[in-house]
Amino acid sequence: MIEAGTLVYIDGRRVSENEAKISVFDRGLLYGDSVFETIATHDGRPFMLVDHIRRLRHSAELVYIDLSVDDATLCSEVEVAVVESGNSECYVRLTVTRGIGGLGLDPSLSENSCRILIVTPLRRPLPEAYENGVSAISYRTQRTAESTEATGAKVGNYLVAVLAMRQAKPVNANEALIVNSEDRVVEGATSNLFVRFGDELTTPPESAGILPGITRQLVLEVAGRSKIAVSYRCPMLSELSTADEIFITSSVREILPIVKLDGRSVGDGLPGPLYRKIRLGYSSLVQEKLAQAPRFFRAVTTK
Ligand SMILES: Cc1ncc(COP(=O)(O)O)c(C=O)c1O
Repeated sequence: MIEAGTLVYIDGRRVSENEAKISVFDRGLLYGDSVFETIATHDGRPFMLVDHIRRLRHSAELVYIDLSVDDATLCSEVEVAVVESGNSECYVRLTVTRGIGGLGLDPSLSENSCRILIVTPLRRPLPEAYENGVSAISYRTQRTAESTEATGAKVGNYLVAVLAMRQAKPVNANEALIVNSEDRVVEGATSNLFVRFGDELTTPPESAGILPGITRQLVLEVAGRSKIAVSYRCPMLSELSTADEIFITSSVREILPIVKLDGRSVGDGLPGPLYRKIRLGYSSLVQEKLAQAPRFFRAVTTK
């Protein structure tokens, strides 16, 4: 049974729960041969939609998946789905797989990509998580896309993140910070990382093979407006024990303070002043972005 308020569309067509199935020969299933976006709504509207669709297209280009529809169509499909769901706020998952093909890695075995849109009620972390902070663990690995031409693409294979979260769950940690082979922290399993050391905010650079997060970009905009010094580097895991503040960013969690890492308090063990300042600036920026955002659904339906 899928949750109430969940709608599924395959290649732009709304399908019932019974029809919400794809082939066992779909390469997304066989090889993780897919790209995707996770989008959250704000005030009932898909937030930073154009940016998410742009990143989806970029991911598809990086792995040579042909996205057969244009950005405006994708944007309007997402907006229509959100409205049709009737949810006050939605979690939107848009996946594009390379499609169906015979067994074998050769990408040309598949002719048509397949897009799957799922809209479901949004569950953000509880207010206490933002007020009191959450805990995280560190997880040593190499990201799968790290050494390929697809670095920076949001590809469907999230097995590393799944395994990291498997370790986080038993210790009630909300996130796993990914540590690379040089003992440097690059990002979260599904988030970007910010660390305050003294007056400086540190975040890993895109060149570290991170996902260039849309929320990360907004936080950097807030930091720029507030004249906060930012250094772009991947901190050593050992350095994080001297961090004054740590917070993570993602579309669903927005900005979430980490007050405990691997069981040890971060700073004084409470969400810090920089987090609070950035959070305030972020809330105003969200309103600005919403006011500026184009409406694709209306543009299509009023024609
Ligand atoms: C690996 C990874 N890094 C960062 C992010 C945050 O990106 P965004 O702010 O665009 O949601 C995500 C989001 O799912 C992610 O999976």
